[in-house]
Amino acid sequence: YEHGAGDGRPRMYTEILEQPESVDRTLRGRLDERFGTAHLGGLDLDARELRAIRRVKILGCGSAYYVGQMGALLVEELARIPADAEAASEFRYRNPIIEPDTLYVAVSQSGETIDTLLAVEEIKRKGGRVIGLVNVVGSAVARACDGGIYLHAGPEIAVASTKALTTMYVGFALLALQLGRVRDLSVADGKRLVAGLQKLPAQIGQVLATEDRIAELAATLARSESMFFVGRVRGFPVAREGAQKFKEISYRHAEAYQMSELKHGPLALISPDVPTVAIVPDDELTDRNVAALHEIAARGGPLVVVTHAGVDLGALEVERIDVPKNETELDPLLLTVPLQLLAYHAALVLGHDVDKPRNLAKSVTVE
Ligand code: AGP
Repeated sequence: YEHGAGDGRPRMYTEILEQPESVDRTLRGRLDERFGTAHLGGLDLDARELRAIRRVKILGCGSAYYVGQMGALLVEELARIPADAEAASEFRYRNPIIEPDTLYVAVSQSGETIDTLLAVEEIKRKGGRVIGLVNVVGSAVARACDGGIYLHAGPEIAVASTKALTTMYVGFALLALQLGRVRDLSVADGKRLVAGLQKLPAQIGQVLATEDRIAELAATLARSESMFFVGRVRGFPVAREGAQKFKEISYRHAEAYQMSELKHGPLALISPDVPTVAIVPDDELTDRNVAALHEIAARGGPLVVVTHAGVDLGALEVERIDVPKNETELDPLLLTVPLQLLAYHAALVLGHDVDKPRNLAKSVTVE
């Protein structure tokens, strides 16, 4: 393990900056502009086999699980196949029902996470089909799966995962697109999404260019002992991942919540000392999300809103971070990137070793 990038900058930072190239590598050679689809040779499934899939079940741990939740929504939206994500660490300890027409997807940067590996082995033992979304070529999870999608993010050293996660998201988008195009997703929609995916590397670069502003907000958030990260539907796994990154390296308490669930309990905690980072994309749910922001503001809760330029927050007094708009289904990726920088700069301000957070290992390979 070599600490730091060798140029004095933490590995996590260089890995955040590498994301335009890593996402570009995940996409390379896999998009079909003519038919508006993706080609994933590693799946080893023909159109008939892809059409026979009735359910998609995604398994991963920690941030890979949260990206899995983003992936499940993509599969449901683009392919209209019921899909969900579960922590592999929970799945393996129950007695899961393995169905022959379910496609199981194991997602892991390292490919060595013991809970994910044992979940794959349990599925295989019961005759299920598992594909991997894995970064490390030839790793244990990749070998145990029936096929899969390599992420090509490049080596990820920092404990806090960044570039692997954005490439996982792209891997799910490619899978959902291919599953959708053998079903009812139109060629026009397929082409729209292909164009959206092609725009992502440059748009990630645009988010990274707003680093100074994000660093200012991070310094303010770092003063709070406790905060919320909230989002709805597509925004909720983004909030979960944002909170995870923040607590991992800043050691601040950051709790992710579904926007509408706030009023069922945690709203009691909102006060001028407890800020909320809210994910409010420009989509069919914007009005509902803005209404929830009013409820937080009315309790004196400071707000940092990660949103799109088109979203009108009216008279609300908030700090906002605008990210570029892509196709609505693909928005979660660009909403995630500022949260990485937010966590990174908060940890720097607090003087923590961002590459080696206390109590954590890069991959959890023992039970
Ligand atoms: C991410 O920042 C975390 N360090 C952690 O949650 C990680 O995503 C998890 O342990 C899974 O690792 P894997 O992708 O290598 O399986």
